[in-house]
Amino acid sequence: MPADPQELLDLAIDLTARAGRLVRQTREEAITEVDTKSSSTDVVTAADKAAEKLVVDGLLAARPGDAVLGEESGSHDAPSAEVRWILDPIDGTVNYLYGLPAYAVSLAAEVAGEVVAGVVRNPVSGEVYTAVRGRGAYRDGVRLTGPRRTALEQALVATGFAYDRQRRARQAAVLAGLLPRVRDIRRIGAAALDLCFAAEGRLDAYYERGIQPWDHAAGALVATEAGLRVGGLRGAPAGRELVLAARPELFDTLHDLLVELGIDEV
Ligand code: IPD
Ligand code: CA
Ligand code: CA
Ligand code: CA
Repeated sequence: MPADPQELLDLAIDLTARAGRLVRQTREEAITEVDTKSSSTDVVTAADKAAEKLVVDGLLAARPGDAVLGEESGSHDAPSAEVRWILDPIDGTVNYLYGLPAYAVSLAAEVAGEVVAGVVRNPVSGEVYTAVRGRGAYRDGVRLTGPRRTALEQALVATGFAYDRQRRARQAAVLAGLLPRVRDIRRIGAAALDLCFAAEGRLDAYYERGIQPWDHAAGALVATEAGLRVGGLRGAPAGRELVLAARPELFDTLHDLLVELGIDEV
């Protein structure tokens, strides 16, 4: 029997709840064990690793034949797996480190290369964003319908920056061109929450270059199911080159301006 997306969602809701409690309850101790990864801005704490282990172990115990891709432990392959899980145990680790209440556990289930269920959970606010492909997006059971229709000049746009310092300098140059053209800019610090905030209209749009599947898999489904268009550069699907989420009417305008400002040279 093919995997039921609702059952996958229920498992993701349960495991993200357990991981969320763990990261929240162990923060004080976990932030004393901080390592850096690709650069000094790219941090990982003991809680990122512990939460990743909790979710991966829980998934493989419940569904031994599935594959998992996690930010901290990489690929857990399974021959002929029907379902691949995509996990970010803490999206927004820098916020976590500083006690800024904007971080999330993000877990998505992919079947045949397509994300069919996703959960993004903020363990501090308690807000849980869920989506099943074709069945809408919800925050704590309330249906999400995206931001109001807005022109670019009135749009509140979020973005994020790569950990690599040279790329950051170029990304800052693109942002300098964008800032005078929009209502304002936000840098929330957690890509999964950026996408969910756009889904519920706390933001009008979000874009970022250089992010990974675990950053956007669940949040992009939430945004799509809330009626946003989520895509990449020049008609490509959302990916490393670009993740852009906005109402369909705003998407092309923002995309074309980002290209004009040189987003693809960053
Ligand atoms: C990061 C956050 C941040 C984004 C970075 C991501 P992490 O994820 O989502 O907002 O700008 O590109 O790497 O490392 O905190 O899981
Ligand atoms: Ca990270
Ligand atoms: Ca992340
Ligand atoms: Ca992370």
